[in-house]
Amino acid sequence: MTEIIKVNPFDIDLKKINIAAEKIKLGGLVVFPTETVYGLGANALNETAVKKIYAAKGRPSDNPLIMHLDRIEKIKDYTYIDDNIFEKIKVLTPGPITFVLKKKEIVPEIITANRDTVAIRVPAHPIAQKLIEMSGVPIAAPSANLSGRPSPTIAEHVIEDMFGRVDVIIDGGNVDFGLESTVIDLTEDIPTLLRPGPIIPEKLKEVFGYIKIPDFIYGKGKVDIAKAPGMKYRHYAPDKKTILVEYSKKRIEKIKEKINNYKNPLLVLFEEDKKYFREYDIITSGNKNDYYKIAVKLFAILRNADKTKNDVIIIEGVKDEGLGISIMNRLRKASSEIWR
Ligand code: TXA
Ligand code: MG
Repeated sequence: MTEIIKVNPFDIDLKKINIAAEKIKLGGLVVFPTETVYGLGANALNETAVKKIYAAKGRPSDNPLIMHLDRIEKIKDYTYIDDNIFEKIKVLTPGPITFVLKKKEIVPEIITANRDTVAIRVPAHPIAQKLIEMSGVPIAAPSANLSGRPSPTIAEHVIEDMFGRVDVIIDGGNVDFGLESTVIDLTEDIPTLLRPGPIIPEKLKEVFGYIKIPDFIYGKGKVDIAKAPGMKYRHYAPDKKTILVEYSKKRIEKIKEKINNYKNPLLVLFEEDKKYFREYDIITSGNKNDYYKIAVKLFAILRNADKTKNDVIIIEGVKDEGLGISIMNRLRKASSEIWR
């Protein structure tokens, strides 16, 4: 049975968090909110508990998990990190960013899928922080969706995917960003972006100086599977055929030219572009330059689009800049066809 516990993030009832923390200590599974997306957590030091995460999600066992800590200082218990890097990551934590570092022996191989590195995140969300603190252990947690589906950004979507598969779901309301954390590899001389997220490249450059952004971040070139194991999988995908329209001045004409080839389409459009498609079914993504609003609603839009009676989803993409890079990274993975 799954227990659903509602917690107000602005006025946390510690008795409720304690129920969830006790489950973690006993090797159970707890879904909890973070500022990015909801996470599916277990005691990271308990191999049997972590195995249950892979089973509940249907996740391939060669895709490693993020280990969540309540305080950044603890990163030294689990990784080899030099002082210079530690000072830099302190600037970005707690927050929506994950650091890949050389792991220490204590980190179980089930979390890292047998690699010598581990991904570490210190979430800023008060419920996540309290849960980790009260559990007294690091919490391994992927996004709390069934493998392949869009990550959950509201409790309703967690319940859709995880009810009956976990011990506790903490309903902490909506998340702040709606896209998973930025993942950056710090194991080599030049930091390398492995997954774009809420902490955008400009900010990373400010903190780390030069950083590498591989082509696969933009959906081009080949993924280095050894370095970025999560990137080879299809992700975030609605069940329906989903077509991404890359941003350009000609996007309206492009859609008009091709849309008649499709029966019963659903358009996901910017507020500004709705007026050109009055006769179609439309979901609004937001104003075309308001990336934060688009991001926070993105996964909910993909889930909702899947539930309509339409046969195909046609969605407008944003520019590959700032947070737009992270939005486009998710949309490219979610879609099976791209109109340029
Ligand atoms: O915002 C987030 O990061 C959420 C919340 C719950 O913290 N978590 C999340 O976890 O998105 P997940 O498992 O869905 O994505 C983790 C990503 C995957 O792409 C995985 O391959 C990568 O991090 N990863 C984990 N450990 C790694 C490692 N040692 N080296 C390289 N990539 C790693
Ligand atoms: Mg995920």
